[in-house]
Amino acid sequence: MSDILTHFDAGVTTLTLNRLDKKNSITSDMYAAMAKAIDEAQANSACRVLVIQGHESIFSAGNDIGDFLNKPPSTAESPVFHFMRALSTFEKPVIAAVAGPAVGIGTTLLFHCDLVYAGDNAAFSMPFVNLGLCPEFASSILAPQMFGYHRAAEALLLGEAFFAEAALEIGLVNRVVPPTEVNGYAQAQAKKMAAKPLSSLVETKRLMKGGQNKALIERMGEEGQSFRRMLTEPAAREAFGAFMEKRKPDFTKI
Ligand code: COA
Repeated sequence: MSDILTHFDAGVTTLTLNRLDKKNSITSDMYAAMAKAIDEAQANSACRVLVIQGHESIFSAGNDIGDFLNKPPSTAESPVFHFMRALSTFEKPVIAAVAGPAVGIGTTLLFHCDLVYAGDNAAFSMPFVNLGLCPEFASSILAPQMFGYHRAAEALLLGEAFFAEAALEIGLVNRVVPPTEVNGYAQAQAKKMAAKPLSSLVETKRLMKGGQNKALIERMGEEGQSFRRMLTEPAAREAFGAFMEKRKPDFTKI
């Protein structure tokens, strides 16, 4: 069974994160598969809406930490950056269904979705500072913009998790439903949207996004440079080593 399932039905392309034994953490192969599927959904005129979903117990534990240690993305052409560019420039509507933890890119990818539905067990976090890293996927622009600076600082400088109701209040999430219903609810909304004319969907999204895409792509480039450098530095190596050894990281000597 593939770690990324792709399904197309009634105008809706669905990507399902399917690596439950590793909490849907995302490997470079999974980024490559998602980037390819998103590019295909863009090119497929029968596709009108993209859905990204996980499992009722976990959306995603973020980047695979073993990959961060053993084959960190080393250039702007690495699969993770392909995935970021594909999703952030995707012209059709994207709906996310999130239940359980959504860690790191599991949260930051939501900034690039148009509608987000959450299970009442959803827990969002961007713990980059806890890993010796910095924000990615333009979250250094999009989190302050959406949350307000101080709440974004709590999420990004403390790396603290926040939960479904807070995400609803901030505006990151459209609606909170029971975890067992979140994927089904997102599918129903996607089907409703897919019955509308594609040209209207695409033009409405383009107008709502305004002229921000260029700034976001530039910021992703800047964040990506720092992120790639920081992945190889002592703080991140200590954090990844500690995760693999199931111990607390010790940053006191770094
Ligand atoms: N990368 C690689 N493996 C991961 C992973 C990740 N990001 N997250 C979880 N796993 C693996 C664990 O190592 C464990 O593997 P094992 O069974 O071989 O020991 C398995 O998934 C189950 O994880 P576990 O931590 O026992 O599950 P949990 O339900 O107690 O906690 C999380 C779930 C998501 C809260 C927790 O796994 C976590 O915090 N993961 C790391 C998140 C992170 O820092 N991501 C990077 C963001 S940039």
